[in-house]
Amino acid sequence: MRVGVLTGGGDCPGLNAVIRAVVRRGVTEYGYEFVGFRDGWKGPLEGSTMPLDIAAVRGILPRGGTILGSSRTNPIKVEGGIERIEQNLQTLGIDALVAIGGEDTLGVATTLTEHGFHVVGVPKTIDNDLSATDYTFGFDTAVGIATEAIDRLHTTAESHHRILICEVMGRHAGWIALHSGMAGGANAILIPEVEFDLDEVIGWVESRFKASYAPIIVVSEGALPKGGDLVTKDTTLDAFGHVKLSGIGDWLAQQIESRTGHEARTTVLGHIQRGGTPTAFDRVLATRFGLNAISAVKDEAWGTMVALQGTDIVRVPLQAATGVLKTVPLARYEEARSFFG
Ligand code: F6P
Repeated sequence: MRVGVLTGGGDCPGLNAVIRAVVRRGVTEYGYEFVGFRDGWKGPLEGSTMPLDIAAVRGILPRGGTILGSSRTNPIKVEGGIERIEQNLQTLGIDALVAIGGEDTLGVATTLTEHGFHVVGVPKTIDNDLSATDYTFGFDTAVGIATEAIDRLHTTAESHHRILICEVMGRHAGWIALHSGMAGGANAILIPEVEFDLDEVIGWVESRFKASYAPIIVVSEGALPKGGDLVTKDTTLDAFGHVKLSGIGDWLAQQIESRTGHEARTTVLGHIQRGGTPTAFDRVLATRFGLNAISAVKDEAWGTMVALQGTDIVRVPLQAATGVLKTVPLARYEEARSFFG
């Protein structure tokens, strides 16, 4: 069996741990050969490959990023894209693909499965917004980085009696904001799932100052003011139709400063949340996903994705993960609200 492996979409700490586990079990236990596809779906589309054997995966467990490279290439949008992939896989003698990605990459995997391709998926995203899995790897690392940033912002905000806003990633789901904001003791957490009321946020800021502390607000890049629009810096779309987010933090700082007279500043964490070494939790989860993904290939469980349910790794249909995004339930947000203001 010759197995192709690719990583697509935004990178995420733990990708290399998955690749290593897939290759280690695949070679040593099943006697498989591997081909690394470069830069997500661009690899199979253009026949762009790299060697992937035990030597290639040595030492990569703690390393962030992906040795295969990544991109947001959408082969479904390319004229004749599916036929080109089919041709390239045939030429390279590939029997099966392991696709490691988020909603977009696995959405393509779902379509290819419907066309008869042999694909197994592995869920990846720091946003933790894929359904059917309790957690995606990369999320724990991103939350840890954001929490450390919030801890640091508290002390400097108090020294200068400022409002400090921390803008975190989370396009459609506020998981990173919710978890880092709770862990870091934020005075307000604003997420895409619940439109925020600016007057209420200003009330929380004022009450925090009255208690002689400086307010910290954690905001997801996809958060929306009531009745308002997404705040973005750039309106160009990627191949999957997403705009580049970021800007809500600065907008909020301007609004709060002009309405309260207190100085407000924003820190945008951006790609710092996605780079660098994965936490132990993410390394273990990614490793277990990799081991189970290659076992799914062995069992010819095409069109499935490995998922974490409780403490078990299970197989679910790819559609179950990509059909509907896993957003923050209102009850979870209500828990966090107990600490606002
Ligand atoms: O992959 C998810 C994500 O981290 C989102 O939270 C964020 O909006 C997006 O990626 C940013 O992607 P890019 O690096 O392509 O700008």
